[in-house]
Amino acid sequence: MTDRYAVVGNPIAHSKSPLIHTTFARQTQQDLRYEAILAPLDSFISTVEAFRQQDGKGMNVTVPFKLEACRFATELTERASIAQAVNTLKFESDTILGDNTDGAGLVRDITANLSIPIAGKRALLMGAGGAARGVILPLLQQQPATLAIANRTPQKALDLQRQFSAYGRISAGSYMDFAGTHFDIVINATAASLNDGLPELPDGIFAAGALAYDMMYSKEPTRFLKYAARQNVQYLADGIGMLVEQAAESFHLWRGIRPDTATIIAQLKNSSN
Ligand code: ATR
Repeated sequence: MTDRYAVVGNPIAHSKSPLIHTTFARQTQQDLRYEAILAPLDSFISTVEAFRQQDGKGMNVTVPFKLEACRFATELTERASIAQAVNTLKFESDTILGDNTDGAGLVRDITANLSIPIAGKRALLMGAGGAARGVILPLLQQQPATLAIANRTPQKALDLQRQFSAYGRISAGSYMDFAGTHFDIVINATAASLNDGLPELPDGIFAAGALAYDMMYSKEPTRFLKYAARQNVQYLADGIGMLVEQAAESFHLWRGIRPDTATIIAQLKNSSN
């Protein structure tokens, strides 16, 4: 029987997840169907339960339901528990397993697809919301030389620093606190790009040969990536690779098979130009 999966969010119409997972399924010859489901803002749990009762096997969860999904799961992987956010649900009899594959997707895109090691590098994470929180542990596990977290509201960065201090050395503060410091990898995990905004980064923070990575993506380069280009940053990347890699990690959790990601990443990057 064809197994059913879905991505649930609000809004959801423009999600690329159905295309990505359908491509993975075809490539790995898995008999599954993957759809996009719009959940009303006040009905996440009933929407998920209905899908589960109709023999759904798993779901991806996107904005704004990742925290609710975390509370809804009956078991959490360590990385989901630490992130306090769930982007993948797996249904198995009475168990609802919650996982978070976002950080693994980011790390894999940087280290495997872009061939840029994080180990030993000076990394700056911009933002201290849910998107940032989800990637801190996987980044620390790569053993960067330093991980700095900068946020418009510095207190939130300081809170994350305290919360994650057991997993590695983190510095935290406002963007201006890092003026004069140089970073090899700068990751934008703020929501600023959504509104064509740009955090107030001090000029000159990019080291020679740096990578500027925006976890968002859009047809045009984001303002952060345009800013980085003006700062002569050598490597620029948007979040398409991360999107596909987090999907591959979810697919692996559900099906036990790791799909090839290069072809669909190239296809999405071309179609978004
Ligand atoms: P998400 O779950 O997507 O991370 P969030 O929890 O609302 O969303 O967090 C949004 C992040 O983007 C925060 O770090 C926010 O900074 P504040 O904590 O100071 O609000 C950041 N952000 C959003 N718009 C921004 C802008 N124009 N400039 C700088 N930071 C911005």
